[in-house]
Amino acid sequence: MAEIRMEGLVKTYPGGTERATDDVSLDVADGEFVVLLGPSGCGKTTLLRMLAGLEFPDAGKITIGGEDVTYRAPQDRNLSMVFQSYAVFPHRTVRANIGFGLAMRKVPAAQIAQKVAWAAELLQLTPYLDRYPAKLSGGQRQRVAVARAIVMDADVLLMDEPLSNLDALLRLSFRAELKKIVQDLGTTTVYVTHDQGEALSLGDRVAVMRTGRIVQLGDPLEVYDRPADTFVGGFLGSPPMNFLPATVHDGQLSVAGHARPAPAHLQGHSGDLVVGVRAEHIGISGINDTDGTNGIEARVDVVEPTGSAVLLTTSVGAGPGPAVLKVSAPPTFRARPGDTVRLDLAPDALRYYDAETQLALEP
Ligand SMILES: Nc1ncnc2c1ncn2[C@@H]1O[C@H](COP(=O)(O)OP(=O)(O)O)[C@@H](O)[C@H]1O
Ligand SMILES: [Mg+2]
Repeated sequence: MAEIRMEGLVKTYPGGTERATDDVSLDVADGEFVVLLGPSGCGKTTLLRMLAGLEFPDAGKITIGGEDVTYRAPQDRNLSMVFQSYAVFPHRTVRANIGFGLAMRKVPAAQIAQKVAWAAELLQLTPYLDRYPAKLSGGQRQRVAVARAIVMDADVLLMDEPLSNLDALLRLSFRAELKKIVQDLGTTTVYVTHDQGEALSLGDRVAVMRTGRIVQLGDPLEVYDRPADTFVGGFLGSPPMNFLPATVHDGQLSVAGHARPAPAHLQGHSGDLVVGVRAEHIGISGINDTDGTNGIEARVDVVEPTGSAVLLTTSVGAGPGPAVLKVSAPPTFRARPGDTVRLDLAPDALRYYDAETQLALEP
């Protein structure tokens, strides 16, 4: 069993004024794959390095498999790491690179050979075992790093942006492969990325971080569909969630110049708020149908076909404030810049946020 528990982890670097991690608590179940997601500088790597034993926290506690490892050296934690940079030894062959950790542990040669052959097969490196890293592509070098990590049979696998240095196409294909490999191994994994698509596709759960804190923890669907605040809604999704100024008075919600009954949990509310809605939850119709009365009139500013859809940037003039709305329409929707369209905000898809705190106003 190798569940991880992090409790109240605080870390400030020498000379640093802000906390790199600020009271982070997070449990990772045995065999679970948790992704730490957030913008650059939010403390992801710091948290991972504390898990690895490469940094010690100022306060807080880390247990792995029930044992307090907070101040243990990295080699006494039974974990393996994969970093963003291809941390492979240039003067060793692929074979020697993959077997390096086992050799350091004085594992018998026959056993190393067997393990290396297994990992090389899994990562499609068998034809390259006698090559040196200089003769490999970036993707292959990162495969070597992953192979070297998994041969160790560690309780915990830590990965810090392992795909970030790969080109877009390779990143997508390798990420699916990595998911399958880790799934089959069943190793408890903590994976760091600033790429929201990667986080959603890989994680059993995603911990969204901002300025040293976890602002939301949930399964990918949950954090995407019900962002805990506007930061999370804006960070996840491509395009990000749309936000519109809105007001509630006397049980009526006014958004983009339209009044409708406020949802039950906001009936008692009065004043400003923010409405969030995803691009794919906005209905769009009525090109240049200026007599139309359904929905909200908007002007098309930008049209971006993506192949499977067409992304429209529209502006809505009506109050309480003007707004830009990104709308995902079927690929056959033929609007052009300057056209007017009619938008329909599906009530079930609307999310509500406090205008001041930006926190979700939950039912
Ligand atoms: N070795 C270091 N010394 C001083 N400050 C650091 C060091 N490493 C990171 N920081 C600072 O700590 C904060 C968190 O950094 P980091 O954990 O690397 O974030 P992330 O991995 O999310 O980009 C940032 O403000 C960063 O500048
Ligand atoms: Mg980092």
